[in-house]
Amino acid sequence: MIVVLAQTKGGVGKTTLAVNLAIERTLRGRRDVLLVDADEQGTAADFSALRVETRGATGYTAVQLTGAAVRSQVLAMRGKYDDVVIDAGGRDTTGLRAALTIADVAVVPFQPRSFDVWTLGKVGQLLADARVINPNLRAYAIINCADPQGEDNRSAAEALTEHPEIEFMRASIGRRKAFPNAAAAGLSVLEAPHPDSKACNELKILADRLFAQVEAEAE
Ligand SMILES: Nc1ncnc2c1ncn2[C@@H]1O[C@H](COP(=O)(O)OP(=O)(O)O)[C@@H](O)[C@H]1O
Ligand SMILES: [Mg+2]
Repeated sequence: MIVVLAQTKGGVGKTTLAVNLAIERTLRGRRDVLLVDADEQGTAADFSALRVETRGATGYTAVQLTGAAVRSQVLAMRGKYDDVVIDAGGRDTTGLRAALTIADVAVVPFQPRSFDVWTLGKVGQLLADARVINPNLRAYAIINCADPQGEDNRSAAEALTEHPEIEFMRASIGRRKAFPNAAAAGLSVLEAPHPDSKACNELKILADRLFAQVEAEAE
């Protein structure tokens, strides 16, 4: 199954979630995973390089692709992998549009009470465009950097009523230092020397819902 982290805004957690989801898959099910860095900034690729330095191997296959190659190359490689995770950059690029035409699911990280809400219309339009050629594309907004007070779920549901192209998935990720701390060492939160159990549980719940839901729908 192909998952793309899709948000036209930067700094919402696309790369953080892409690398953590990719690693969660390799650890959980011993699956063969392809991590595609489709962002020109190359943050996921830098993470993978750091991971090789600190651990000797990534545990997944990492490639960097841009533009239309995101579609053609991923289509050519997908048969070799159980899961493909694509980190598409924070702008409306050919690479993001190409990824959306081949993905099973788009994950749209956002913070309900921030400027991220304003980009949902843009993302909704990209999804509508992609569905002309990829009608089965599912899209789930998930809250990243959630507020500990728990007000976010209601705000998110409200923000999304105006964007029927995107469903809300109740699998929020809190704002937790464990994410940047682990990433700085080339690790997922699951592999940190002293894992943050809340961060680990949130990641596992997100991965479970995302992959189980989409696999069930594909049957
Ligand atoms: N759940 C989280 N908790 C704490 N910090 C986070 C979380 N998600 C992302 N960050 C931090 O926010 C910044 C932006 O995240 P990043 O994944 O690079 O976003 P994007 O790829 O969308 O630009 C990074 O410094 C990252 O470590
Ligand atoms: Mg990024």
